[in-house]
Amino acid sequence: MTTMKQSPTASDAGSSATASFRAGSAAAFGEAQTSTERVNTVVRAVLDAVHAVIRDHQVTYPEFQAAKRWLMDLGEGGEWPLFLDVFVEHVVEEVAARSQQGTPGTILGPYYLPDQKRLPAVAALPARPDEPGSTWVLSGQVRDVDGNPVAGAELDVWQNSADGFYSGFAPHLPDGNLRGVIVTGDDGRFEITTILPVPYQVPTDGPTGELIAAAGWHPWRPAHLHLLVRASEHRTITTQLYFSGGRYVDDDVAHATKAELILDPEKLPDGTYRSEYDFVLERD
Ligand SMILES: [Fe+2]
Repeated sequence: MTTMKQSPTASDAGSSATASFRAGSAAAFGEAQTSTERVNTVVRAVLDAVHAVIRDHQVTYPEFQAAKRWLMDLGEGGEWPLFLDVFVEHVVEEVAARSQQGTPGTILGPYYLPDQKRLPAVAALPARPDEPGSTWVLSGQVRDVDGNPVAGAELDVWQNSADGFYSGFAPHLPDGNLRGVIVTGDDGRFEITTILPVPYQVPTDGPTGELIAAAGWHPWRPAHLHLLVRASEHRTITTQLYFSGGRYVDDDVAHATKAELILDPEKLPDGTYRSEYDFVLERD
């Protein structure tokens, strides 16, 4: 990220997701030890699907060459993680969720960074002294599927700032800004003070944005807080919380919203917002 320009651009954010994926995010979530049989089955099916699209839509040589050029740009621009997380990951998550109990998950996205500051059960996320935005307090409890509180559970959270950028992916934000690992107390409870996240565009100034514009789509994701909720001997939940009535909640470019993950924060007389949300973890 030392090569990034001083003014943030969306494509900086998109391409640096490649560096963070290579640096450890991939290892943190596991990569399959894949058999020849599985590669043959899955890759054959992918190629068959591509061939069917070419036949059904009578794809021309100029279109094929444009696609080839765009795929090369996507790789050279470092945007494969961005593209796959926005347009493909939600279905991988949907398949994984079929065998899972507890709080619903959703996509991880490209902006997770491990090893953030550990914080007590009641804590404010690290932020700049003049962090813009509306104060938001999220409290709740982490429980197991039998209703028992989970002490020492970790809520590894990250979100964007009021201008729509994530720390670690925009040079104007300090490292660790609006990121942290909150650890629940004996009663499994937590209370996180932060700001309301805002809707943001996936990068529009790189190859992913070029495709979105060429297809006449929009590049927006609704406001959300990202969380990994984990505890020993329990399956880690990768999820996001959204806001009722917010823009793009019903039209997320990444197709990652779920009704069970939408909050309706209460606005207090002092202008701050509060939400309650409990997380349920299943045993490993
Ligand atoms: Fe996000």
